[in-house]
Amino acid sequence: MYVEKVLSGMRPTGRLHLGHYHGVLANWIKLQHEFPCLFFVADWHALTTAYDEPGTITESAYDMVIDWLAAGVDPTQATIFIQSKVPEHAELHLLLSMMTPLGWLERVPTYKDQQEKLTHKDLTTYGFLGYPLLQAADILIYRANRVPVGEDQVPHIEFTREIARRFNHLYGREPDFEGKAREAMKQLGNKRAKLYEELRTRYQEQGEEEALAEAHVLLNEAQSLSFGDRERLFGWLEGTRKMILVEPDALLTEASRMPGLDGQKMSKSYGNTIALREDAESITKKIRTMQTDPQRVRRTDPGDPDKCPVWQLHQIYSDNAVKQWVQNGCRSAGIGCIECKQPVIDAVLKEQEPMRERARMYEEDPQLVKNIIADGCEKARKLAQETMRDVREAIGIDYS
Ligand code: TRP
Ligand code: SF4
Repeated sequence: MYVEKVLSGMRPTGRLHLGHYHGVLANWIKLQHEFPCLFFVADWHALTTAYDEPGTITESAYDMVIDWLAAGVDPTQATIFIQSKVPEHAELHLLLSMMTPLGWLERVPTYKDQQEKLTHKDLTTYGFLGYPLLQAADILIYRANRVPVGEDQVPHIEFTREIARRFNHLYGREPDFEGKAREAMKQLGNKRAKLYEELRTRYQEQGEEEALAEAHVLLNEAQSLSFGDRERLFGWLEGTRKMILVEPDALLTEASRMPGLDGQKMSKSYGNTIALREDAESITKKIRTMQTDPQRVRRTDPGDPDKCPVWQLHQIYSDNAVKQWVQNGCRSAGIGCIECKQPVIDAVLKEQEPMRERARMYEEDPQLVKNIIADGCEKARKLAQETMRDVREAIGIDYS
């Protein structure tokens, strides 16, 4: 609520590939320099579909964190942790479940979609229905306001917003809220209080989003406010309730254009991937043997880059001069496909070099990774515990 905060999670599905790197991780790595970031392994979420074969979840979790670190997620900038090591997520999930209408969960599109897709599995479980609610708890417990996700996850963020709103509506009441809000306003000092009132009026009477945003900045910058007063002033801006949980926004991650070795989208289930920290020999071999324009059978046949997945890789990895060389050489049969692939091979290997370097350090000393995760869990847990105190107090289940 007070500072911009980014949170995102990934289910541990095993080794990550270039599609993950160019889609998700590159974005995380950029964000970690701009905002406080929390990145976590959603191992409980993995269990919602892998409950009958949980064996590989912990190993995949470690592998995935090594991939994050190798790719450049920096543990001195971002907090890296594991969901199940912060059990407060489960407590918030439980408390939220009390006020979540069943219909809201049944209406989330991924619920039916996944059940139809994963037909070999019984997903008519309590846990799977609750998947988006657990995700809402992941986000709300850190009061994260920016959540980088792909398009498919947008309904989950929208659902999270609805849950936050409902929670604040139900538990953000307090006796004489208006009186307390006015008292809190005085803590801002005369000048700021006046500005706050003006902005509030503009938002409430004219619906001016800019006024709301400006007021948020004003409150964020007001150092002297107590926690409770700040919550009241945030709530007073938009209505007549305290704002205990923060409604997040999705930060849409552009879909990765990374083609797989067969030209389809790169995906583990298609078996067409190049992994992060794959060895050089294997990468070279995979690209050398990858599909090209099927019409170009002989070296002397001219080809069409638009029908060739190698060209898609050039678009990601090559500069204009090389791209021009491919266009001309392919269409005139001036270059061979092996020749054409070489700059891509070089670029992928070069991109992975620092990753392999970093990964080696972590592979050789697994304790290093464990320490990073332990640190991250401790930091995350502190934040989660703060929110839980407020949540318990707001609901009134608080024996302190
Ligand atoms: N559901 C997300 C996915 O499959 C993973 C996830 C779990 C997540 N909790 C989250 C993402 C919280 C963002 C925020 O990709
Ligand atoms: Fe594809 Fe390059 Fe061969 Fe043309 S020359 S078909 S772009 S690999």
